[in-house]
Amino acid sequence: MQFTAKVTDILKQRSACAILAVDNKNRLTESGSALDKANGGLLTKILKRGDLGSAAGSTLMVPTVEGGAERVVLVRTPKTPVSQAEFRKVANSSATAVKSLKDASSYLAEVSVKDADATWQAAQIALAAGLASYKFTRCHSDAKPNPLAKFTVHASDKKQLKAVQKGVELGGGQALGSNVARELGNLPGNICTPSYLVGEAKALAKKHAKLSTTVLDNKKMESLGMGSFMSVAKGSDEPAAMIAMNYKGGKAGQKPIVLVGKGITFDTGGISLKPGAAMDEMKFDMCGAASVFGVMNALVEMNAPVNVVGVVAAAENMPSGRASKPGDIVTSMSGKTIEILNTDAEGRLVLCDALTWAGKFKPSVVIDVATLTGACVIALGHHATGLYANQDKLANDLIAAGETSGDRAWRMPLWDEYQPMLNSNFADMQNIGGREAGSVTAACFLARFAEDYNWAHLDIAGSAWKSGAAKGATGRPVPLLLQYILNKK
Ligand code: BES
Ligand code: MN
Ligand code: ZN
Repeated sequence: MQFTAKVTDILKQRSACAILAVDNKNRLTESGSALDKANGGLLTKILKRGDLGSAAGSTLMVPTVEGGAERVVLVRTPKTPVSQAEFRKVANSSATAVKSLKDASSYLAEVSVKDADATWQAAQIALAAGLASYKFTRCHSDAKPNPLAKFTVHASDKKQLKAVQKGVELGGGQALGSNVARELGNLPGNICTPSYLVGEAKALAKKHAKLSTTVLDNKKMESLGMGSFMSVAKGSDEPAAMIAMNYKGGKAGQKPIVLVGKGITFDTGGISLKPGAAMDEMKFDMCGAASVFGVMNALVEMNAPVNVVGVVAAAENMPSGRASKPGDIVTSMSGKTIEILNTDAEGRLVLCDALTWAGKFKPSVVIDVATLTGACVIALGHHATGLYANQDKLANDLIAAGETSGDRAWRMPLWDEYQPMLNSNFADMQNIGGREAGSVTAACFLARFAEDYNWAHLDIAGSAWKSGAAKGATGRPVPLLLQYILNKK
């Protein structure tokens, strides 16, 4: 999708649809009033009739108007100034209302929002439009993508334009990255294999001079001693891969932010086989990796002035004659030994070696992203990503980035008191901590491999995809990560 920020005259700006806000008292914003006047009060007449619902985010399409736009979508806001959450709702529902048109121009930056500037508003408008335009069509025989291809965000004047431009760039990048992540997440396990992810990483490097891709194959991983990662991979016929995408957009000496994504392209549980119900959703077990791909794609598209390395630990978790068994003991790249009591706790087994390898990039911070535990879904449901960190500043920055972008995370404890739950009689640690605090003990396991740097862990088991009728990847936490990365520069 092509996003533009512009100072426009609503009577002249050509588009298939203009998006106009209406407050709780049926008042239009500046551009809306101008269009209403040019149409002899048509919009106020429609509003007086009560055709637009009173709930925040209700929309009504007016199919023909005089002026630059062919149509108008009216969208209800609560009493202004609106809260950030209310504005998001308005931006989302109006974006959904125009997704079947070929282009649209939004005048929502005219709405006054509490504690928000024009940059924030424009970013949220663009993000909403980009997300609404996404549709999975790859595996249907006759589906067409949504036509929405151009989206203009109106700025009131030259002074506001710069701010709106900045926001459109950020929100557009967040949408692009999210949609890359959604597409990879939605692809089935028989298409999106570890080798497929390798292909994606190589293709990205080919297209962009500032990004290079390194892939560790089996032999290399063996020589590096990645025994924990390989113990997961060996049950599958699909070759595994450890991938690094190194983007150098910042200063030469600047230490990179390293993102590490769990890339289990299908998680059967292995010998500790999962129950059958909804097992198809374990194709989403690479959504952490998908979010890393999303961020890397957005950074190169935006030509962002930052150094970021995206590491992806890609493997399939399968039962077979070569698969790990409960009780097996493996040695990780760090030298620490692990007793595998449950082969379904495979995420931490691939991530621990990825975290050790991440240290080689001399990172300023390392953030891993993983659909790690069902227990995180029990704790937080589907709204918040679980956040763990060994440094308060990093935790606070990530939480703030989540609040700003609307892609929120909630901090969970990483206290030493939980660590003994991972004690093993036969190895340095075991890979499960028991029934209680399952998301916490998984994070505690990872923390043992991230002692040498500032580290955060995002458990996206509840936020990375939706089940039921709206089944599909969400692209989270791409907006949060990009907000964090671009705030820092
Ligand atoms: N990929 C799953 C976590 C998961 C499960 C995410 C359901 C979203 C929904 C992970 O590999 C896993 O199986 N974790 C186990 C850990 C347990 C064996 C300690 C879990 O959560 O049940
Ligand atoms: Mn598992
Ligand atoms: Zn898993």
